[in-house]
Amino acid sequence: MKGLTGKTALITGASSGIGQSIAIRLAEEGCNIVINYRSDGEGAADTHRQAMEKACKDIEVCGVQSLLVQGDVSKEEDVVSMVQKTLERFGQLDILVNNAGVQTDSPSEAIDVDSFDWVLGINLRGSYLCARETIKHLLAENRTGSIINISSVHEVIPRPQYLSYSISKGGMGNMTKTLALEYAAKGIRVNGIAPGATVTPINEAWTEDPEKQAEVESHIPMGRAGTSEEMAAAVAFLASDEAAYITGQTLFIDGGLTLYADFQEPWSA
Ligand code: NAI
Repeated sequence: MKGLTGKTALITGASSGIGQSIAIRLAEEGCNIVINYRSDGEGAADTHRQAMEKACKDIEVCGVQSLLVQGDVSKEEDVVSMVQKTLERFGQLDILVNNAGVQTDSPSEAIDVDSFDWVLGINLRGSYLCARETIKHLLAENRTGSIINISSVHEVIPRPQYLSYSISKGGMGNMTKTLALEYAAKGIRVNGIAPGATVTPINEAWTEDPEKQAEVESHIPMGRAGTSEEMAAAVAFLASDEAAYITGQTLFIDGGLTLYADFQEPWSA
């Protein structure tokens, strides 16, 4: 895709799932990648290995490089250091993908404060902190850039028993729009993708049980879960110059999950 070669992309939570696929895809598109991970160093090394295999398959001397950076996105000092390390190594940061995310489930009347704060701290404050540090760098260097937030269909679909997750993704949608408007004139585009049910480790509860997976998929108009590669393709598009005039948008990639599946067959009249 246009305009990605030679860019530097930082992907948070890139040791597994959607983040791993995004890192691999952006490397394949010619970006230097910064693979953030919180604790899964092996997963991050696997992302690096797969990314280099894809990016360098036909090239003798590969121009694409990757950097592994440990850090917890909910901690301000970790985020500051993550961006500093990126700049020390590559001298620039052009693309931020706010992918790191967690969820917990509990009836809403029983959520304890620590668990509530943990989810909001990673999904929402962490995304803001990464965006803040990226924007500071872009403004200081007078560079254009692109931020992509990995939201969820639960940005708009209420999800009972997952209140903190739903709040975090709803907030992320507003963060996408607010930052997009605030920095549009500076050439910093801010967009999001909202995945539907996607086969990744966060969904082990149903992806490892064929019966439960069939039950999940029965609610999806297209009849199947999505893949992390399908999410990564949309991120590459939004980060590229093909999307140069797109900002403040969240692209729903969900096999039709947000289309009111109950209306697939006529029932109302
Ligand atoms: P995953 O569990 O494989 O990925 C989440 C990643 O975030 C993990 O690598 C984890 O180590 C990392 N992470 C968690 N806390 C962190 C922290 N404090 N600092 C840095 N990294 C941290 O699951 P998946 O599905 O790949 O999730 C990626 C994103 O996609 C999340 O934001 C999730 O909410 C979102 N999403 C996933 C959907 C799905 O069905 N899999 C659907 C909608 C959204």
